[in-house]
Amino acid sequence: MTSAFSKSELRQLIQQAGAVLTANNFGNATKPAPSLYPHQWNWDSAFIAIGLSHLNQVQAQREISAMFRGQWKNGMVPHIIFNPTASDYFPGPAFWASRINPAAPDNILTSGITQPPILAWAALQIYYNAGDTRSALDFLRSIYPRLCRYHSFFHTNRNPDGNGLVYIIHPWESGLDNSPRWDQIMEGIVPKEAQSVLRTDVNIIAENERPTDHEYNKYSYLVDLFRKTQYDQGQILQESPFIVQPVLFNSLLYVDLEARERIDTLLGADTGVIKAWRGQLKVAIQTKLWDETSGSFGDYDLKNRRLFLKDTLANYAPLFTGIPSQAVADRLIARLFSSEQYWPDSGFPLTSVSMAVPEFDPVKYWRGPVWINMNWLMIQGLQKYGYHSQAKELTEKTITLIRDHGFYEYFNPLTGAGCGTDQFSWTAALLIDLIMKYLSTGAGINEETPGSLVNE
Ligand code: SER
Repeated sequence: MTSAFSKSELRQLIQQAGAVLTANNFGNATKPAPSLYPHQWNWDSAFIAIGLSHLNQVQAQREISAMFRGQWKNGMVPHIIFNPTASDYFPGPAFWASRINPAAPDNILTSGITQPPILAWAALQIYYNAGDTRSALDFLRSIYPRLCRYHSFFHTNRNPDGNGLVYIIHPWESGLDNSPRWDQIMEGIVPKEAQSVLRTDVNIIAENERPTDHEYNKYSYLVDLFRKTQYDQGQILQESPFIVQPVLFNSLLYVDLEARERIDTLLGADTGVIKAWRGQLKVAIQTKLWDETSGSFGDYDLKNRRLFLKDTLANYAPLFTGIPSQAVADRLIARLFSSEQYWPDSGFPLTSVSMAVPEFDPVKYWRGPVWINMNWLMIQGLQKYGYHSQAKELTEKTITLIRDHGFYEYFNPLTGAGCGTDQFSWTAALLIDLIMKYLSTGAGINEETPGSLVNE
């Protein structure tokens, strides 16, 4: 098989990506970006650790351990751990005031919500990529009690129907902030009081590439509501208008539980409880989040008891879980490759929102641009269902996009132009992982082994 890239080009890209991660490092953790995101974020750190695991096992382990240091006593791992030396970010620790809940950690300032759960998956990848598997096992052992509490938090606090499907309480928990998936619910939210929103993001990034003030008002309103309940999970479930079981979040949880089962086995722990939960979650994704008429997965709005099917890339998340049958996967994958939906004729796949959806905007955050984490997930989905040449094509397009346009946060799919912040950590980290897998699956350069590419 031939490669679209030369050996020196791939080596150089890995070095550049490593330099982005080094520059964004602040001790044991890595910021998602130099100034836009100056703290530690939850799923960003998981992606970062996966990339780092190819370059520096110890640093990758530290990244995950640092994230767990912000864990609440109820098991929740917050979406942000605040870096005490950084101040220019809204909403900062004073706005969250999460210490009003006694479960918040004593010496670390955090936000009061969580993010898509992929920390077990990342930890397992560190073990798989480890040069020193003994110390990787020690690392798994060291985080294991926290990993158990992390999963228990979701099962105990976010699983109201007992069917394994978990809900989120804020668009920021979804990871997809201003996706058109949430528009209808967000439109129904009318803040009762004026919010004090002092945005810093729009001083750094062009306003048309970020969520609107209108959206920020509602994001702040929800946090205000949480603060008033002192971050009480039960009260939030009763009182908040945004209670959703998203297909992306639950698909990631499924994969995280799969990783957890593997970790249980490696450490000689019982896998029964997690296996049972994963089995339940599989059924719930197949039934509650699936719409036969449109042949599509979607998100379930628990407050209004309805399934949302807005056609965005997140609906295709079950592909990387392996849950759909081959026939369902074939139908979903055909849409990903359609030039009217996710794969522009010229430019770069995959759009984060179908181009056929009226809200599609090629430069606005989660409303259309290409995101590298989504491509990375979909590449794994394509491979799961035997679409190897398509996975290779998407990998090559993704590597080319970053090579030609930089380590941006997201990209205009029609032109490739970088949007949001430059020097974005998960773009760098997942590029490293993509290149390493590209080589190891035989799609890359024949005479090159992935290991020698990093170590030379
Ligand atoms: N993604 C949010 C931001 O833009 C917070 O998680 O700051």
